[in-house]
Amino acid sequence: MNPFWYPLCADEALTDKPLAVQLLGQALVLWRGAESRPVLQQDRCPHRGARLSLGHVQIHTQIHAQVHAQIQPDAQPQAQQHTLACPYHGWRFNAEGRCVHIPALPGFEPPASHRVSTFPVALAHGLIWGCVDTAAGTPANTPASTPEGAPPALPTLPPRHLLFGPFDVAVSAPRVVENFLDTAHFGFVHDGWLGTASHAEVPAYPVSHTADGRPVVAHYPAWQPRATASAAQGGWVSYRYEVLGPTSALLSKQPDDGSPGDSFTLWCCPTDDEHCRVWMGQYTADTTTSDEDLRTFQLAIFAQDTPVLESQQPKRLPLSGGELHCAADRLSVAYRRYLLAAGVRCGVC
Ligand code: FES
Ligand SMILES: [Fe+2]
Repeated sequence: MNPFWYPLCADEALTDKPLAVQLLGQALVLWRGAESRPVLQQDRCPHRGARLSLGHVQIHTQIHAQVHAQIQPDAQPQAQQHTLACPYHGWRFNAEGRCVHIPALPGFEPPASHRVSTFPVALAHGLIWGCVDTAAGTPANTPASTPEGAPPALPTLPPRHLLFGPFDVAVSAPRVVENFLDTAHFGFVHDGWLGTASHAEVPAYPVSHTADGRPVVAHYPAWQPRATASAAQGGWVSYRYEVLGPTSALLSKQPDDGSPGDSFTLWCCPTDDEHCRVWMGQYTADTTTSDEDLRTFQLAIFAQDTPVLESQQPKRLPLSGGELHCAADRLSVAYRRYLLAAGVRCGVC
């Protein structure tokens, strides 16, 4: 049972073809049903186990049976049914997971037990999210139901939104989130950009919590040589951190000189215990820097983090000892405690 929602792909990345994705070690398929609504199902045909993502989406026009019987040539189509057709024997599954057609037995109506596990999906922040809560996609193949919760909500942020990624990283999602919350690495991993070794000290900062237990740092002062793509010189920046969920977080930066602030979201999909797929959202009040320059800056920052992240051992985030902490790590420690309290099991040890 895992009641959390995770990002699976950018909304614009899902075309009219099925797309294989992975979440928590499970092979899943995303495809677009009626009105382009995304559908999330197990990527395994219940007939002989072929990958449904190798199949294709079929759209059938359903004509009302009575009209059909009267053979009215000018009858208007009543509805369109979208199905996912398996590449092996062509069985077709609808958006609820039910098998609606077996080409080898065209007159046979498959029973309700012929279905593929189907999971809830949601659109948020430019991404398609899924929840593989086992109550919604049980081996008994019950239809999708809405589990508790939803993708993380965001406060009001600057309107200009860019989404960077996906980036596949060979380390657990909690390791990537902890790195996003970690300020003590700025002067080393991002020397000359987000920090400098001559300003390595981490000032004491308090960690508070939201009503549902997510850690927040309301104010963290950082001196940064180049805080943003448009920064011409170094300066003090006020950071605000908020953990949004087990594998997502929000960082807002406000330069002390009053120049436009930026907010960054980290969205991680735990593909399995030791790998993740990452997107980063930027919400900025900067109206002059080009999309390309903003993208180049963030990709440069993430490229600095990746080798260190992928070097970490174990790849899972230790929640019960085995690593040393100092007072500068209090947000990281609060994040680990939050994961423990929330009962998160993927990507931790
Ligand atoms: S394996 Fe899918 S239809 Fe046979
Ligand atoms: Fe970093």
